[in-house]
Amino acid sequence: MSDEALLRHYDGGQDLVARAMELLREAGKDLSRLSIDDLVGLDEFHVRGREATLSLARRLSLAGGERVLDIGSGIGGPARRLASLAAVDVVGVDLTPAYVDLANALSRLVGLEARVRFEVADALSLPFPDARFDVAWTQHVQMNIADKDRFMSEIFRVLVPGGRLALYDILQGPGGEVAYPMPWASQPSMSHLATPGAFRAAMERAGFVVESWEDVTATCRDWAARRYGAPPPPNAATVARLLGARNAAGAANIPRNLAEDRIAIVEAIARRPSAA
Ligand SMILES: C[S@@+](CC[C@H](N)C(=O)[O-])C[C@H]1O[C@@H](n2cnc3c(N)ncnc32)[C@H](O)[C@@H]1O
Repeated sequence: MSDEALLRHYDGGQDLVARAMELLREAGKDLSRLSIDDLVGLDEFHVRGREATLSLARRLSLAGGERVLDIGSGIGGPARRLASLAAVDVVGVDLTPAYVDLANALSRLVGLEARVRFEVADALSLPFPDARFDVAWTQHVQMNIADKDRFMSEIFRVLVPGGRLALYDILQGPGGEVAYPMPWASQPSMSHLATPGAFRAAMERAGFVVESWEDVTATCRDWAARRYGAPPPPNAATVARLLGARNAAGAANIPRNLAEDRIAIVEAIARRPSAA
């Protein structure tokens, strides 16, 4: 599966900046006075949305002053949220140029462009020197990446000794093959789900020490039942409306895959050990 197929899957060939502005206006937002809370629902592209970002941020407990890298930053909601919770600067990287453009446009609209910036890059070849960041953050990205060892070793490389990785991710559950489409993959060839054991082993092979690892599948299952049982109002600015039919088809399979334990979702913190 080529990067091009993945890009087509994610951007759908649309002008996402124009579409996002249209959705925000339809939702009654004043674009000259936007805050990050006006973007909730639109700019976090993972199960449990803002709730998941806040939960992982609590686990991470930033002190302020850390240099943070968000790998696979999407539309940028999590990076902006982190910058609003603590005095940190965040760089986000993502493979999809349309997402990077929209993420930067939204940061400008909420006045965070000096502290939160996004650039196009592949997680498997991060354009940064060794030991450049104190914290790495990634949510729902590695499902598109077959080479888990390379993914983990690149993150390890750009972290300072003693630096931490915060991860919220989808893994293969015990209930059998995932039913596609899913939001990250219109077809199985785009998806590379590892079992929890295999994924954790890849983290450890890269040199990480796993400090916390919690299976949050049950929490996600409850969230999905609520979210898909009572959809937001039709004029709400949401990821589903931004990305259109392909995303909606994938999202519709989330409750089933969770209910049947075909996917597992974990929140984890790992550390690059300090040099001896
Ligand atoms: C489901 S979205 C999650 C976005 C964001 N982390 C969030 O939670 O809101 C997956 C993202 O991973 C990005 N992605 C997939 N493969 C990538 C790679 N090799 N390098 C960088 N980004 C990648 C996609 O472009 C997409 O933005």
